[in-house]
This record gives sequence, C-alpha cells and structure tokens, in this order.
Amino acid sequence: MSDLHTTPEEKVVILDFGAQYSQLIARRVRECKVYSEIMPGNSTAEEISARSPRALILTGGPGSVYTEDALSADEGIFELGIPVLGICYGHQLIAAHYGGRESVGPASRREYGRTSLELVGEDPLFEGLPGTLDVWMSHGDLVDEPPAGFRVLARSEGTPVAAMAHSELPMYGVQFHPEVGHTDHGLDMLRNWLYGVVGFSGSWNMKSFIEHAIEEIREQVGSGSALCGLSGGVDSAVSAVLVHRAIGDRLTCVFVDHGLLRKDEGKAVTEFFAREMDLNVVSVDASERFLGALAGVSDPERKRKIVGREFISVFDEEAQSLGEFDFLVQGTIYPDVVESGVGGSAVIKSHHNVGGLPEEMRMDLVEPLRELFKDEVRRVGAELGIPEAILTRHPFPGPGLAVRVLGEVTAAKLDTLREADAIFEQELRAADLYHDIWQSFVVLPDMMSVGVMGDQRTYAATAVLRAVTSEDAMTADWARIPSSVLDIVARRIINEVPGINRVAYDITSKPPATIEWE
Ligand code: XMP
Repeated sequence: MSDLHTTPEEKVVILDFGAQYSQLIARRVRECKVYSEIMPGNSTAEEISARSPRALILTGGPGSVYTEDALSADEGIFELGIPVLGICYGHQLIAAHYGGRESVGPASRREYGRTSLELVGEDPLFEGLPGTLDVWMSHGDLVDEPPAGFRVLARSEGTPVAAMAHSELPMYGVQFHPEVGHTDHGLDMLRNWLYGVVGFSGSWNMKSFIEHAIEEIREQVGSGSALCGLSGGVDSAVSAVLVHRAIGDRLTCVFVDHGLLRKDEGKAVTEFFAREMDLNVVSVDASERFLGALAGVSDPERKRKIVGREFISVFDEEAQSLGEFDFLVQGTIYPDVVESGVGGSAVIKSHHNVGGLPEEMRMDLVEPLRELFKDEVRRVGAELGIPEAILTRHPFPGPGLAVRVLGEVTAAKLDTLREADAIFEQELRAADLYHDIWQSFVVLPDMMSVGVMGDQRTYAATAVLRAVTSEDAMTADWARIPSSVLDIVARRIINEVPGINRVAYDITSKPPATIEWE
C-alpha cells in the first residue's frame, strides 16, 4: 500500500453496502471539510486499517442482516477502536453485532419518506438541534430494542430505535438518512458527529482535494504518458488541467473540432488551454469529414451514431499518429458513474465524446473527478485557475449542433444556427439570466414559413429558442424568461441572421419532451 493511503490524515472511510446514497454521504462529509474515501462494505478490517481512517461510516444498502447472502461488515471493524456511525442498514449492522441478529426485525409498518423524529435526552450528535425534526426514512427492517450498552437517542412513530449510541464505545447508529436534503439539520448532525464525536478539525478543502488528486494521478501514471480528449466542457477541462499539474508534458490533449460546435468555441478552447494553461494541445479540424459523413442523413439516431463513430475514428487516428500512450484521461464525474461501489471496473462515460473506444485503443483510465458532483468540479476548476466562462458554460451534447439542426445537417444551416445561438446567449448574459438557466440554445427545425419583411414576402427558416431550468437534466422545466428579453432576442435574430424570419419559444417541460430536440 502506498504512502498516500497510510498517511493518518483527517480521514473517514465510508463502507459502501450498496446504498443509493453512498456518494452523497461522501459529498456531505466533504462539505463538512473532512476527507473521505469509499471502500466496499465487505472490505476486511485489515484492508480498512491500512488506509488509516480516524472514523468509519457504514452506509445503508438493500441487504437485511438476517439474509445469508447480504453484504456484511467484517466484525473486526468494531475492534479497530475508532468511532463508527451506521446509517440505515449500517445502523442495523451495529445492532446485529452488539445485540445479535434478533435485535433487528422487519418493520411492522415500513417507513418511506418524510417522518417525524423525536429526540430523547441529550447527546453531542444532536447538539443545538430542535427536539422534533423531519427526517427521511427508507427501510423495511428496524432495530427493535437497543443492544446492551446502547441507549436510544431518538424515535419515530414506527421506529423505536431511530438513533442510538453506546454508553462507553464511540458507536452510533441512525435509522434515517442524515445525508439527504429532506432531513432537517442532516448536515448539522453529520457535522456534530465529525467534530463533536470524532474530533475532526475540518481543515480539508478543495485545495486539499487537488493536492491529493495530483498525488494519486502521479502514483497511477508513474512514468507513463497520458492522452486526454478535450471537449471544451468543464469536466474534461478540469481533468486535463489536474493531470497536467501531476505529470506535465507527459500529457497530450487532443481537441477534435467536428464543426458542430457553438460560435468560436473551437478557437477559444484551444487557445485557452495551449496559451493560458500551457497544455500540449493538438487540434484537429475534422469539420469537412463530419459534414461529409452526415450528408443526406436526417434521422436523429443515425446522425448521433455517425458523429460518435467519426469522433472515435478521428480521435483514434490522431492518437495513433501521436505515438503510444499508457493512459486515457476521462472527465467522468460521479453522476456519470453507472456502477456503484469503488474498485469495480472502469466505465467509459457513455454519454461522452470519447465513449466506446475501439478494442486496440484500450488504455487504462485516469478519472480524477470520478467521485465529485458538478458543483464540486466547478470549485476545483476555479481553484486551478480555469476562468468562469468555461466553468459555468451550459452543458453541450457530444453530437453538438448536429442534434439541433433538425433534418439534414449542412454547413449553411450550421452557420445560421450558430449566429442565432450566439445572440440568445449574449442576451441571456446581458439580462443576468444565464446562470439561473440550466441550458439554453437555439434549434433550427427543418421547416420554412412565410413572412413579410419590408414590403417583401419572405419564405425562410424558423429559429426555436429552448431554455430550461433543471437540477440534473433528468427532469427540466422551461425557463420563465421575461417577455421583454424574448422580444429583444427575437428582434435581434430576425434582423441580424439572414435566412430566419420567425422565432418561437419552446414551452415544454421534460418529461414529456426531452431537453434537446433530437
Ligand atoms: P435530453 O435531451 O435527453 O438531454 O433531455 C439531457 C442532457 O444530456 C445532454 N445530451 C447529451 N450529452 N452526449 C452528451 O454529452 C449526447 O449524446 C447527449 N444527448 C443529450 C443534453 O444536452 C442535456 O443536457
């Protein structure tokens, strides 16, 4: 085991029992300025103590302590002499360890969702909190009675032991989920546990994350070389800069300009990374190749496949011509990680430009942002000196404008769309609305309509404005942009973009629509 893992830092190990919320727990711990690492729930006490944590969190999970094949903890973890906090299934594991399996039973009434919690007595875990709280429950089993040595700290109508602590040992269990936003004061409880019970000082921050990530990248890459596909998006940008800090010129970045980017985007991206960040960037102008491959194709799925396929070929050809690389840097962030748990095989970001590399190009992946959420990636980026304009730009799909020019994609339509799109972005920024919106763009449907400009009849294209608010792109609502702003955007587009005589605003949410039109 490397030094990296044996340094006794202010570290919590989170043992993952297959919880939906493991990464959320890690994130909350980071919010409390404490470093955490996630390990599989069934790691041995030896493996865990090799990482020198000062405390353990046992997560929830789908298992049941009285099912033989349920993922269980090594009993040795309770002998490590460090504080343990069990959450949901983790709480039941603690009860089963100290009180035997019989102390856990199926709940007579399952509790899911918001539940009122009543605190019993005083404890550092609930320091400064009101006596009744709404908490988030999601469980089928529960602890019927506290095991010997434990006292009840909180209960709810359906859960007699909703929180418990050992009188002498630093063992805590909570049946509810303090990590989710629906639990009142959940973060305060975690902070109380981390600071008041374990004794962390809360000195960890994004700078520490960067230092740690750099060490880890160095350890993984050794004296090898790495290749990174830059897309202009925040995730690949932050990953590239981070890896560059770790291994310098042994990183080569490839930027494939497929000609389906927003106005001036390609130039801005390459200039920024090469000039400002001193990265070794190879830029490939493949726009003609992509346009050629897309000629005559109007089916959305075929267009996507063509862009994906061409992208991989161009990237692959470029990589081959640049020589041999040992590693591929990917900007995978936590929401992209399909598999749960750590240590499973790496998943290539399926939504990503570099997705599905050919077999012969398989390189080991370096994914320094794998455990972070988007807002954390932005904070890391800011700390690395990446400008706001790159960090806060709206998400952009891999197939680019090919899915926003509906029907056949041509160079002329792309130019028209780019101009209209740039005006929409400029006006949203001018109205100070850009940052309140998850994504905004213009779509060019494959249709013409009649208009009148001056005294002339026109027969020209329609530009559709799309702007949505969202948390994570899974659901979205159309943004309530003031009509005065829509008015300016529409007038400017009609006046400044030849070939457009009509502007519409899409007022459909997702579902039933998707954010993109194709
Ligand atoms: P939809 O249109 O499905 O999009 O509501 C959800 C989010 O995903 C983005 N998107 C993509 N991103 N490659 C990407 O990298 C793609 O093929 C792709 N398709 C959609 C979309 O812009 C939105 O943010």
